[in-house]
Amino acid sequence: MAFNEEQFKEIVTEFTIDGERLHEIAASFRQDLQLGLRDVELSSMRMLKSYVGLPGGKETGEYLALDFGGTNVRVFRIRLDGGGKYEIVKRVGRPLIVPGEYDYICKDATAEQMFDFIAELIDEAIDGNHEQKFYLGHTFSFPSTQTNLNNARLIIWTKEFATQGVEGEVANDLLVEALKRRGVNNVEPVAVLNDTVAVLLSAAYKTPDIFIGSIYATGHNTCYLEPSIHDPNGVGLGGMILNLECGNFMKLMPNRFDREYDEGSEKPGEQRFEKMVSGRYMGELFGMAIAELLGEKGKKYGLTSVDMSMMILDESEKLTKASDIIMAKVGRELDFEDVKKVRELAKVIVIRSARLVASSFVAIVWQRAGKGKIVHQHVAVDGSVYEKMPLAKENITKALSELLGEDAGKVDTILDNGGSGLGAAIAAAMAVQK
Ligand code: GLC
Repeated sequence: MAFNEEQFKEIVTEFTIDGERLHEIAASFRQDLQLGLRDVELSSMRMLKSYVGLPGGKETGEYLALDFGGTNVRVFRIRLDGGGKYEIVKRVGRPLIVPGEYDYICKDATAEQMFDFIAELIDEAIDGNHEQKFYLGHTFSFPSTQTNLNNARLIIWTKEFATQGVEGEVANDLLVEALKRRGVNNVEPVAVLNDTVAVLLSAAYKTPDIFIGSIYATGHNTCYLEPSIHDPNGVGLGGMILNLECGNFMKLMPNRFDREYDEGSEKPGEQRFEKMVSGRYMGELFGMAIAELLGEKGKKYGLTSVDMSMMILDESEKLTKASDIIMAKVGRELDFEDVKKVRELAKVIVIRSARLVASSFVAIVWQRAGKGKIVHQHVAVDGSVYEKMPLAKENITKALSELLGEDAGKVDTILDNGGSGLGAAIAAAMAVQK
C-alpha cells in the first residue's frame, strides 16, 4: 500500500511553521514573559524564582552534585578550581527504570523508594565515607517553588513522571530523610536548582556574555538572568535567574496531533509547548502521523526520537537503516517512496521543534534588551536533542537569523555539556561561600 499523497502533504503542512508564524510565536512568547514579570498569574509560564544570580568565577572547593531530572540519576564529586576550571573527581549514575527489574517513576513507586535509591547512589559517590563533610548541590529538574536557594517544593511532575508522594513536598527534605535512613549524616544539601539554571551557572562560570540557559532533551525548558529582581535570600550577581518553565507555554497553535497526544497523556493540558518540541514527545507525534498514513490511527509503535535521529542520518541510497527501523517498530515493509516520506516526516517534526525553541530564545533576548540594543551573547544549551539530533542545531541557527535580522550575528547557541552536574557544584559553592 502506498501513502496517500494528499494526506501526506497535509500532515507535512500541519508541522510546518513559516517565517510569519515564527515571528508571531516569538512575539507572543515575549508578551507572556512581560505579563509574567508584572504578575505571574497572567502568564502561561510559571517563571519561578531561583534565588541565585550568576557566579563570580572565584567559586572553589570540592562538592557533591546530584543530577536528578531524566531517566538517569547521576552523582558527581566535582572540584572547582576557580577561573572557569574544574575537575570531575568521581562520577556514578544509574537509570530510574530498568524494564522488568524496577521502575521508580511509575504510579506505583513511592517517594521513599525513589529517594532511597538516590541516597544509595550518593553513598556510592562518597565511597561509603560517613566521616568527611560533603556539601551537595541538587539539580532537581521539575517545576518547584523556592523561597531560598536550598528549598524547592515540587509543584507538579512533568516528563511523564508519576511517583507518589513527591508532588507538594520539599525535594531536599525527602533527600535528607533518605540520607538519614541510610546513615549518611555527613552529606548536607545546601542548594537546589533547576537543570536550566545549572546550565546557565556552568556556562557562565566558564565563558562571559551568557544570560540564558536551556535544556533541549527529554524535556525542554529555559531560564534567564532577570536584572530587575533582587532578594535578600538570594546569592550571586546581576539579579536573579528565573526558571521560566516554558515547557508550559500555552499561547501557540497546537495541531491535531499535538492536541490528541495531549489528551491521552499523563497530564492533559499541561506542558503543551514541551509536548511539541522535546525528545520525550517527538517520537510519539511521529508515530501518530505514521499511523494515520497507514490507516491505523490510534495504534502505538513505540517510536522514539532516537529512531527519528537514526532515520534522518540514514542517507544511504536504499534507506536501509530507515526501512529496518520501520520494519522493527511499525511491523511493515514499506516501499522506497513511503520510506522516503516517513524520513521526510521525521525531518519536519524536528525542524518545527527547533524553530519553536529558537523563537523562545529570541523572545528572551528581546525582553532582556528592552528598548536598548541587543548585546553580543551566547545562549547556553545542554541536552541530547540539541547535541545529537540531526537538523536541530542548524535550524535553531537559521530561525535565530530569520527572527533577529541584522542583529543575527550577535546571538548564537553553544553546547554546555554536563552543565547539570557542574552547575549544581557551583550553586553549592555559592551557597557555602556567600
Ligand atoms: C521539564 C521540567 C523542567 C526541566 C525540563 C528539562 O520541562 O518541568 O523543570 O527544566 O523538563 O529537563
